Amino acid sequence: MKKSNKYTVTAALPYANGPIHIGHLAGVYLPADVFVRYLRQKNRDVIFICGSDEHGVPIAMQAKKEKKTPKEIVNKYHYMIKDCFTNFGIQFDNYSRTSKKIHYEISTSFFKKLHEKKKIFEKVSEQFYDEETKQFLPDRYISGTCPHCNKSDAYGDQCENCGSSLIAEELIHPKSTISGSFPVLKKTKHWYFPLNQYQKFLEKWILISHKKDWKVNVYGQAKSWLDQGLKPRAITRDLNWGVPVPITQEKGKVLYVWFEAPIGYISSTIEWSKRKKIDWKPYWKDKNTKLIQFIGKDNIVFHSIIFPIILKSYNSGYILPNQILANEFLNLENKKISTSKNWAVWVHEYLEDFPNQQDTLRYILIANMPEKKDNNFNWKDFQRKNNTELVAILGNFVNRSLTLVKKYNNGIVPHPGILSIKDKNILNKIKNYPEHIGYFIESYKFRESLTCFMDLARLGNKYLTEEEPWKKKEKKRIDTILYVSLQIVAMLALLAEPFLPHTSKKLLNMLRLKTFFWKKIKNIEKILCPGHLLGQYTFLFKKITNESIQKQIKKLEKIL
Ligand code: MF3
Ligand code: ZN
Repeated sequence: MKKSNKYTVTAALPYANGPIHIGHLAGVYLPADVFVRYLRQKNRDVIFICGSDEHGVPIAMQAKKEKKTPKEIVNKYHYMIKDCFTNFGIQFDNYSRTSKKIHYEISTSFFKKLHEKKKIFEKVSEQFYDEETKQFLPDRYISGTCPHCNKSDAYGDQCENCGSSLIAEELIHPKSTISGSFPVLKKTKHWYFPLNQYQKFLEKWILISHKKDWKVNVYGQAKSWLDQGLKPRAITRDLNWGVPVPITQEKGKVLYVWFEAPIGYISSTIEWSKRKKIDWKPYWKDKNTKLIQFIGKDNIVFHSIIFPIILKSYNSGYILPNQILANEFLNLENKKISTSKNWAVWVHEYLEDFPNQQDTLRYILIANMPEKKDNNFNWKDFQRKNNTELVAILGNFVNRSLTLVKKYNNGIVPHPGILSIKDKNILNKIKNYPEHIGYFIESYKFRESLTCFMDLARLGNKYLTEEEPWKKKEKKRIDTILYVSLQIVAMLALLAEPFLPHTSKKLLNMLRLKTFFWKKIKNIEKILCPGHLLGQYTFLFKKITNESIQKQIKKLEKIL
């Protein structure tokens, strides 16, 4: 890995149709944030790009539900989501919105060029139309009886009862969910992307080049699409909300949200580059730049098939994603998180109920990250992990070390005496931690990287308990033990940053240290030297009480 290489890290643009919950964090934003914070600590040239996805049927549906206009909906949720990210410590370099002018410009310029170069074609087809409300109906606005299981209330694209994916015309007794009337089939013109023409290119790129290095869920889904054979797909829609199709005067034609939103990664980068006065092109067009995309599992096809085809056919030197990372799902108390059923832990509510305890949630969500299979969040486990791991191991070790130094050496890093074999072993061992943790993070094994970090805290805790400096008579021996302990504390302070950034900051303040780049961390003894005066101790983690957990459990029980 050459040092000059750049990283462009993106996280799926969340729909601004509702607040975000722990599933979003554990699935996409936390792994991305840990990865980026690590790269920044390694002094890599990295940008972290995201923004709100403000178009498409999900927004229109929410607007209807809340009896508001789509614009009101996205304004409400954009800021709410953005604040949650900031508060929770997800540190984007830019958080944009797809309703911004810059995004309209960039996404329509893609469409226009593809049209000029004849990379897309027009076709008229018949689609369901609601004569009462005078509009074409997106699949989600049509319901009817499922032809497979005969259950009513299946959607135009899927039956939630038997799970079959459907096309709207298959529904028995289709009905518009807007007016309740029976829709008629009506002709409409759309623009299509001949995905089939890119079959060979994708097979080579995915099945040959990325067989070994993509995660099985991403690779598997991409492969299954390719195995079925790609077909042309419409990239425009009849909708009153979205980016208008630039080449027609016809009203109500907009770009399909899955065509336009991924281009949002690029427009968000351009927005960043204008603010920072830094050229954006190397981040998207330099072959040595790595494009790493963190996404939800239900977004895989769009990022592994459609977006790469858009970039490829646009043909102006865009790089393709190097990695596409999707986690499995996080359940809540053993049940699938559901926005519509309100079965979720909402981030903004968590922040209200547990103020200043962002890192506790970060910790639990990383520890339970659904990396290979679905995983579960439950409140009891949340309490237990906080109290027995963060408080009793990490917090306790730091607390004991710093109060002992205050007591025995006026809060000054002591000069060590003769080091025992064990002391030497420990000092050697801690130097290996950055590399171990780094290896796991670079392999996208976030749970293991966190385990490794906690091992270091365990090592410190055990050392202090075994050495019992408070029982020693000889001051020099006490100094030595405390010196060794403080080196561990310093290492923890620095290595905590990707996982627990708020804690890391507190720790660094207590040690009166600034952040250091990874390279230097290996020389930890040069960072925290004898004679250095430490700062004030403040508690790192609070115990979580049974009452506060009961309150959360009750909140969920009400929903059941
Ligand atoms: N808004 C989509 C979702 O929440 C993700 C869009 S990702 C992008 O599932 F690539 F389109 F930006
Ligand atoms: Zn069915």
